[in-house]
Amino acid sequence: MQLIDGKATAAAIKAEIAEEVKTIVAQGGKQPHLAAVLVGHDGGSETYVKNKVKACEQCGFKSTLIRFEDDVTEEELLQCVDRLNKDEDVDGFIVQLPLPEHIDEQKIIMAVDYKKDVDGFHPINVGRMSIGLPCFISATPLGILTLLQYYNIEMSGKKCVVLGRSNIVGKPMAQLMMQKQYGDATVTICHSSSKGLKDECRQADIIIAAVGKPDFVRADMVKEGAVVIDVGTTRVPDASRKSGFRLNGDVKFDEVSPKCSYITPVPGGVGPMTICSLMKNTLAAAKKEYYK
Ligand code: GUN
Repeated sequence: MQLIDGKATAAAIKAEIAEEVKTIVAQGGKQPHLAAVLVGHDGGSETYVKNKVKACEQCGFKSTLIRFEDDVTEEELLQCVDRLNKDEDVDGFIVQLPLPEHIDEQKIIMAVDYKKDVDGFHPINVGRMSIGLPCFISATPLGILTLLQYYNIEMSGKKCVVLGRSNIVGKPMAQLMMQKQYGDATVTICHSSSKGLKDECRQADIIIAAVGKPDFVRADMVKEGAVVIDVGTTRVPDASRKSGFRLNGDVKFDEVSPKCSYITPVPGGVGPMTICSLMKNTLAAAKKEYYK
């Protein structure tokens, strides 16, 4: 069994990005600039955004954090998106999800200029991705694909099961794994209503677990020699930690890992790659790689 080290891979890619930024700036170009909008004080979102800001520093990007309280109105948030769309110094920006119940998430996503949509959530980017056109690709699926490529893991013609059908991970992941230019695999998506989910998993060469249920994938669901990618990051109480919690993946690691050819740990697997992909997308936005 080989552990897939997302932390080290992300660090190597961020170092490459930092080198490129140095060259751009040395040649008189503009420093890439990512803005992040954070609403409320959800612990998970606070951590993700803090890590995104830190990654910007590591890559030599400028970053701006815009905070709102939980009671922000949809109108105020839309005005903020509009300002960022028009701000010529901002190359790309994200609105951290989830948003409070009284705000229509889809309305906010649709308001973002797709040319600055480094999350890849706007329907134009989602649609372009699904027909194989250049675009911003959702950071978690892109990070997973990058990891699989980095470790030279064979995907073409393999049977891949994606567990979960979210807009952020499951759906774009299945799309990427299926397309000839990316995974070129045979893909099955399983979700909470799927019958025979265990049997589907048992036949899979690659399992990508993104259901948000701690320890959902057990040893009896995994074929000998399978590649297992764990996207789960549920906070579970842990009195032995200073924070009072630990991050738990969707895969019961101790049980599953002996059967795998490759497996990602939690933390240190997919998480750092997600942030690294956001940095890649921001650099692409600054270079106007996909859109003029
Ligand atoms: N919430 C969970 N994942 C993400 C992400 O990739 N981007 C944003 N904006 N919010 C998230």
